[in-house]
Amino acid sequence: MKILGINALNHDAAITMIEDGEILFAGHSERYSEIKNDNELNGELFNDCYRYGKPDKVAFFERPYLKKLRQLYAGQYKEVLNFRDTPRFNLKQYIGNAKIEYVDHHQSHAAAGYFTSPYEEAAIVVIDAIGEWDTLSIWYAYGGNFEKRYTLKYPNSLGLWYSAMTQRLGLKPQEDEYILMGMAGWGTQDHTLKNSIYNDFFKRSNKPIQLKDNLHRGCLDWNPEYYPDDDSDDWKFNIAANVQWICEEEIRKVFSLTQKLVPETKNCVYMGGVALNCVANSIIAKHYYPSLWILPNPGDAGSSLGSAAYVFGEHINWKTPFTGYNIKGKYPVKKVLTELLKGNIVGVATGRAEFGPRALGNRSLLADPRGDDIKDKVNVIKHRQKFRPFAPSVLEEHAHEIFDMPVKKSQFMQFVAPCKYPDKYPAICHVDNTSRVQTVSKDDNLGYYKLIKEFYEKTGCPMVLNTSLNVKGKPIVNSYMGGVGFSKKYKVKVF
Ligand SMILES: [Fe+2]
Repeated sequence: MKILGINALNHDAAITMIEDGEILFAGHSERYSEIKNDNELNGELFNDCYRYGKPDKVAFFERPYLKKLRQLYAGQYKEVLNFRDTPRFNLKQYIGNAKIEYVDHHQSHAAAGYFTSPYEEAAIVVIDAIGEWDTLSIWYAYGGNFEKRYTLKYPNSLGLWYSAMTQRLGLKPQEDEYILMGMAGWGTQDHTLKNSIYNDFFKRSNKPIQLKDNLHRGCLDWNPEYYPDDDSDDWKFNIAANVQWICEEEIRKVFSLTQKLVPETKNCVYMGGVALNCVANSIIAKHYYPSLWILPNPGDAGSSLGSAAYVFGEHINWKTPFTGYNIKGKYPVKKVLTELLKGNIVGVATGRAEFGPRALGNRSLLADPRGDDIKDKVNVIKHRQKFRPFAPSVLEEHAHEIFDMPVKKSQFMQFVAPCKYPDKYPAICHVDNTSRVQTVSKDDNLGYYKLIKEFYEKTGCPMVLNTSLNVKGKPIVNSYMGGVGFSKKYKVKVF
């Protein structure tokens, strides 16, 4: 039985096809349309997915009429009256008259995490901006059953607040939150500023995330009371540092509450867009749940898999995040290695595309992480802000030698770790000497593992710099047919 799961009409549309517990295909709309976080589906995506057959059942990741009720409450009358954005109207061209099974938004998140996790029994935490009404949910799952034990509802929402702050710093909400997280490392944590921000937005409470106002429309008119004395842009970095600090404290409240509400198990599944905050993820793994599973695609795109898995009702045989468009051929180990050894920055577009926001070796731009000028060069190539850090892909067996890892392995680049030798590896260290580490084993990606292993044998360096194969504001490339759009300043070969 083939089940198609769909996330669309929200942001970052995606579809997943499963059959008897195996993932046949999972991919993002944006990779085909070349529109970042595209909320619309497209025919190319479906054509690629239907190479693996047509579905017997179709699942949708949320309940559209419940969502419209919330939009009515929020005064979003245009959205309420727009029936063109309903799945029944919108999906017909792709699925015909197939019956759609609707799954609650947070239930789809919970199912995506739990059914791909290695656990029979687990606490599940979902934190996002908003689904229909829920913005935080805590569950106990065992033997395929879900018990919801706590919910926080709109307009209280950590995701909405973080997105509002992202927008206030001149970035794109629901897209650039990771840039705010990166900016935080450059700012200063300061109790006065933190308290001032907290008091502006939060009611003092031991309960997590009790907001004073509805931030659905952002907070562009908000100015912090406490500024530094100069007129530089430093205040933005300081705001980012303290926003991130508040976010971490609220997340700590959520996970202490989870330990109280789900005493049966020490396993935890964590999902929702907020689970992309890898700085906070490290705190959770270190202080609350060392046994932690986060799907590499924990946001709404991952709920295409979640809604299909929920309809299936059993664990999925999770093997790999490489489930998208397939560029056939062997991993170009020799060609890429030759470029790296010459000190060049080199692209890889091979095999199946990653499901999730991180490039994990199949659609990546790679470099030697040791050069002092590499970080600036890669930022120029990708037209990115200078302060943005890059991540390392390190052989799993060497990860703990170089990084103070909060977890045994981090194969989906979901955790940050202090680097023990920042002077040796400047290109992959953030300003606070931490790195968002990807560990690589033979099982994770054999070709990529061989490449890093050979690079290690030739140079003594067991890792490479790995950033996504795209330029700022564009999605990761899919087929590489249209090129990448890199700056012409440096020559970059892509294999
Ligand atoms: Fe969500």
